[in-house]
Amino acid sequence: MATQVGNKVQQFYNQSPFPDYELEKFNSKKDLEIAAYPFARILDKSIPKNASILDIGTGTGQLSAFLSLRRKCVWGIDFSDSSLNKAEKLKEKLNLGSWHLKKVDILDINQIKKIGVKFDYILCLGVLHHTGDAYKGFKNILELLKPNGFIAIGLYNKFGRIPLKTRKLLTKTIFKNNQKVKDYFIRLQIGNLKDKERARGWWNDQYLHPHETTHTIGEVLRWFKKNSIEYYETIPSSVPYIQSDVEICGVWNKSKSPNSLIRFYKQLKWIHQTSKEGGYWITFGRKKC
Ligand SMILES: C[S@@+](CC[C@H](N)C(=O)[O-])C[C@H]1O[C@@H](n2cnc3c(N)ncnc32)[C@H](O)[C@@H]1O
Repeated sequence: MATQVGNKVQQFYNQSPFPDYELEKFNSKKDLEIAAYPFARILDKSIPKNASILDIGTGTGQLSAFLSLRRKCVWGIDFSDSSLNKAEKLKEKLNLGSWHLKKVDILDINQIKKIGVKFDYILCLGVLHHTGDAYKGFKNILELLKPNGFIAIGLYNKFGRIPLKTRKLLTKTIFKNNQKVKDYFIRLQIGNLKDKERARGWWNDQYLHPHETTHTIGEVLRWFKKNSIEYYETIPSSVPYIQSDVEICGVWNKSKSPNSLIRFYKQLKWIHQTSKEGGYWITFGRKKC
């Protein structure tokens, strides 16, 4: 049974699929490769080609479509019909046979169990903070992870999100009618506004979303501990003296879990460091046997 928040969020993504793109821009698999973002390339390089991947809250599906180019089993699940319809069109157009799409509400454990497959890697990027019950969503999706399987959780950080919340307030008040300022803010996050569908998708997602929550590293560590997930790392890094992220730390690398002092220090830094990304960070872990 969908919750009130779930209904609102589902309706929102049906009107505003994310991340969205102009379908006409993708005429071959090569176009999908060219359009892949640096982080998608890093994931592609770091996940073995024979691994199965589940992308939860795949939206319009660029990431999972791209990852399926060199793999036999990549799934994308989401509860938004419009997003999945767009993804299906892309799948058909580019003949992506190893990319599987399915409508699933991750807060509904029965729908999760019905999937009937478990995966080596689970990506859940930018989803849980829109569910209304991030922990329940997290617990449910672990059902789909194989023992020893890897998981990446992308969330808004309580500290890191402060600049975006400030920008949001500005766009609702003194810059309410100022398109230039709004364009500038969205350019901060996505670089340019050439792809109109994408720019609109990002604007809606960041500035007009009906529901979001913010979280801390400590909270995610507690979720991990309670559910036998071994902590690996975060992006940006939570290792005390490392500034940069993936290029230096890699992904799926095990490091020491940060203590409360380091977490506080790092998250304070994220106010500036992740300001452009809206305070977004990813935590990596691995399911214990
Ligand atoms: C911000 S988008 C993230 C899309 C993609 N993961 C990315 O990083 O570009 C959030 C997605 O999560 C989906 N979503 C939110 N709540 C969900 C739920 N309870 N079950 C399944 N999907 C959900 C939305 O439909 C939307 O497509």
